Amino acid sequence: MQDLTDYIKDHQDRFINELIELLKIPSISADSAFGHDVIRAAEVIKNALGQAGCTSVEICETEGYPIVYGERTVDPDLPTVLVYGHYDVQPPDPLNLWDSPPFEPIIRKTALHPEGAIFARGASDDKGQMYMHVKALEYMVKEQQLPCNVKFMIEGEEEVGSNSLVTFVKEHKEKLANDIILISDTGMIAKDIPSVTTGLRGLSYVEVEVAGPNRDLHSGLYGGAVANPINVLAKMIASLHDENNHITIPGFYDKVQELSRKERDAMAEAPFNLDAYKKALDIEDVYGEKGYTTNERNSIRPTLDVNGIWGGYTGEGAKTVIASKAYAKISMRLVPHQDWHEITRLFTTHFENIAPKGVRVKVTPHHGGQGYVTPIDTIGYKAAEKAYETTFGKKTIPERSGGSIPIVALFEQELDSKTILMGFGLDSDSIHSPNEHFGINNYLKGIETIPYFYKYFTELSKK
Ligand code: BES
Ligand code: MN
Ligand code: MN
Repeated sequence: MQDLTDYIKDHQDRFINELIELLKIPSISADSAFGHDVIRAAEVIKNALGQAGCTSVEICETEGYPIVYGERTVDPDLPTVLVYGHYDVQPPDPLNLWDSPPFEPIIRKTALHPEGAIFARGASDDKGQMYMHVKALEYMVKEQQLPCNVKFMIEGEEEVGSNSLVTFVKEHKEKLANDIILISDTGMIAKDIPSVTTGLRGLSYVEVEVAGPNRDLHSGLYGGAVANPINVLAKMIASLHDENNHITIPGFYDKVQELSRKERDAMAEAPFNLDAYKKALDIEDVYGEKGYTTNERNSIRPTLDVNGIWGGYTGEGAKTVIASKAYAKISMRLVPHQDWHEITRLFTTHFENIAPKGVRVKVTPHHGGQGYVTPIDTIGYKAAEKAYETTFGKKTIPERSGGSIPIVALFEQELDSKTILMGFGLDSDSIHSPNEHFGINNYLKGIETIPYFYKYFTELSKK
């Protein structure tokens, strides 16, 4: 595919500008005030898929945000690749920590990206990575290089739990039938080290409320005599880890599969520099479960983290008050075989059990999903491995990620197909965080690598 690099060179400015236009739309699925923008982003994707060469494109309405669907059939006897991605983004808060406004994309050079990176919410997660697939399709169609059939399914609720997609997948199994699912919504080990993500963690996300006295109280008149919900909540949360940073919820680890020494040794061979890691985060030391390395802690081990905690007076100055209620949002990242419904139940029972007399506890489950691991002896993995090696000229490394894309386990369950996670993002992209960005080089390299996946997957399927 010699003309692939030429095609990218000739069209790269347009590829970048089209992405910039998409990034200007604040398609924040979590905030209903942006509902129109989420829908506007779906329209843009629909048009882009049509222009890129999908012969049928549609906006599929759901109870929530629409799913954009497109397809192009070359020959029903050839394999079909189903591309999944999401056009919704995380809220950009805290706004004051952005160096440039989140929905006014700007290209800036960084130490890691001397060629420039696009700064905007969604640049890496997932508009930039999803759009690589649209542009790769454009190339394959325009240059008669599409070797198999393709379907696109791009949703607008990934960042809030993919509720509508669950129903959509269950109701459209025939329409979505495929031989492999291809997703770029993860990362790679380093800019020049290609990697295929072979695992994702599951998730259980809950909100807790600790209620004490029926009203806020003067902290002098009542302090010391009644349970302070914030003090109690802090103590309860602290008790969820022991001195070795193991999680104390009874039964929490029951289904966790220990990896063999061999598998752990193989993981440890992936390039990783602990000093650079600490330096990048400006931390003196890492922290976590005893007996596991940093890369194990953030991928093959389950975790529990408070994502937000509030209650009482947080305004300027001091107000002496004992709040009536305290709250926290807690996420548990799970590993394959831990069932998120079961973990949510275990958490709820335990949290209720450890509440002292004098407070009432309420646990509200939000969303969740199962983890995922994929074998590497499949033609899908081999095609991805070979595609990366073709364009990066380096060996591809399998990597288990700590993030979650809950819908992937459901794809396997409902559509009976494996997913290949071909990520082009980097940990330093600051996804979900201020100053999210995506390297121009990563973006273009993605567009260049994807057509090779199609080529190798089709070739390997014939054998
Ligand atoms: N693309 C991310 C997940 C991800 C990022 C996986 C990098 C691996 C590497 C996805 O958009 C995401 O943010 N998922 C959420 C879960 C979802 C249910 C809100 C997450 O992991 O927090
Ligand atoms: Mn994502
Ligand atoms: Mn995300």
